[in-house]
Amino acid sequence: MNMSKSDQKRVAAEAALEYVKAGDVIGVGTGSTADFFIEYLASIKGKLDGAVASSDASAAKLQHFGIPVLDMNQVGTLPLYVDGADEATRNRHLIKGGGGALTREKIIAEASEVFVCIADQTKLVDRLGTFPLPIEVVEIARSMIARKLVRMGGQPVLRDGYLTDNGHPILDIRNLDIMNPVELERQINQIPGVITVGLFALRSADILLIGTESGVNTI
Ligand code: 5RP
Repeated sequence: MNMSKSDQKRVAAEAALEYVKAGDVIGVGTGSTADFFIEYLASIKGKLDGAVASSDASAAKLQHFGIPVLDMNQVGTLPLYVDGADEATRNRHLIKGGGGALTREKIIAEASEVFVCIADQTKLVDRLGTFPLPIEVVEIARSMIARKLVRMGGQPVLRDGYLTDNGHPILDIRNLDIMNPVELERQINQIPGVITVGLFALRSADILLIGTESGVNTI
């Protein structure tokens, strides 16, 4: 079998359908892997009561397929959240936010009983940090936050001409040595002006579905 990266994303997305139960309102993420999941959801949409989306783009896509999109404040605890990642380790710590939706993603992950992360095998790494770590920040704090990240060994780059769905800039931090993701997430969370850091270690994924050349690995 010769599976492209895109095929691997697609099979991982398809495998996540198994976690959707009749009558659920579920959380749905953002990105190309999540887009495949939305396409698969369309094929079972009668089973779903609705979805909460982690971005305006995913909300539009869900609506396009006739899946009701609900506001986070209208729903209680979600049984399931399905989303991609930029990097994942075997203990299910993640870097997310390459697509800029990290804040809503972290909120939905926190509100969900089960977080299923879907990805192609290039995303599975031994240590997080090759992918630049996104941090959504309050505009007036961005230089101060960047200086602090430099002192922590990182190289911050402002995501040029980009604002999140919430209207905030993102700093992408290169070269961080992420030996202890839980501790680093706590440390960055404490910097005033940080809205969200794209480390998902305090609330990691519960299940990783990794699309590979030979099918889907469940971690
Ligand atoms: C968006 C994300 C995405 O899950 C992440 O960027 C992965 O994207 P893709 O599925 O396109 O590889 O965190 O903020």
